[in-house]
Amino acid sequence: MIILGIESSCDETAAALVRDGREILSSVVASQIDVHNQYGGVVPELASRMHLEAIVPVVEQAFGKAGLRVDEIDAVAATRGPGLTGALLVGFTFAKSFAWAKNLDFAGVNHLEAHIHSLFLSDNPPEFPFTALVVSGGHTNIYNVSSEDDFELMGQTRDDAAGEAFDKVAKMLGLGYPGGPVIEKTAIGKDPGLISFPRTMLEPESFDFSFSGLKSSVARYIHTENIRTDSEKAQVAASFQEAVIDVLSAKVIMAAQHRANSMIGVAGGVSANRTFIKKLSEKARKKGIKVFTPPCDLCGDNGAMIAARGYSLIRKGRLCTLEQDVFSREKINTSGF
Ligand code: KG4
Ligand code: ZN
Repeated sequence: MIILGIESSCDETAAALVRDGREILSSVVASQIDVHNQYGGVVPELASRMHLEAIVPVVEQAFGKAGLRVDEIDAVAATRGPGLTGALLVGFTFAKSFAWAKNLDFAGVNHLEAHIHSLFLSDNPPEFPFTALVVSGGHTNIYNVSSEDDFELMGQTRDDAAGEAFDKVAKMLGLGYPGGPVIEKTAIGKDPGLISFPRTMLEPESFDFSFSGLKSSVARYIHTENIRTDSEKAQVAASFQEAVIDVLSAKVIMAAQHRANSMIGVAGGVSANRTFIKKLSEKARKKGIKVFTPPCDLCGDNGAMIAARGYSLIRKGRLCTLEQDVFSREKINTSGF
């Protein structure tokens, strides 16, 4: 079964053709970073307009790269939520109309479940049950994943997402958007222990996160210490990143141990952070836990993960009707309904 997967929940317009939920025939991602960079973050109205401009060429490119004609595919899947409503509507409505016009099955996919399914697109995927950390610009969620359809939410952020904290700190330091990659790069070679920013662990048994205190503490430090030079900024970046890594690592390992899982899967934009994955893997190994990530180019938003999740839904007949619409806020375990 060949599925066209479409993603437009935030600032990437993406399309991919995937066979049987695993084999990527093509994957095209058009990023809007250059535009949003000028504003230090995603501007929702601009995102919607740019998705409109990009969606047809991106889908055409996906077919071109795979060397396939439209009549050679079997189904369509698109992100239904969560995300920016206007942005979601572009990809979802395009996909729904495309499927209707070509008489193809259509599934609406939960973006967070799709990030978890991006782990199965690697040559070395985790086995069930495993603990998943979906860590992106909008979410920091821990799940117990017991099958390709069962995602039990164990914890989430009570304020900012980890990726959002990276983006906001980068903005404070004048490093640009998105903050994650630039903070990781800037921090290389600096001693992460030099500034001790807070590690908010919340209640002892809680798998929830809170990053707003860390963000305020970094803001205060930049102001009181009058941080200006590149070297000073790099020092703040390294110490901030270390604080985020410590909290993410401690909580996800604790969640895995709580369920006696020996595998952790990390997905979403922040899973591209090699410093994080290396440190988490070292800490987890000491507890007998192995860490898995998606292939590098599938950590951030992409169409292949949407097709992968779509495949598991479409195979079971969990399709979307023309009346169904996007949702902006999180609803886990609701894809296809
Ligand atoms: O999954 P994603 O592409 O979009 C959402 O669903 O949000 O994640 C984007 C987020 C941004 O906040 C970005 O700063 C962060 O992922 N990110 C990183 C890195 N690469 C992207 N954060 C830390 N280190 C990175 N290398
Ligand atoms: Zn995402």
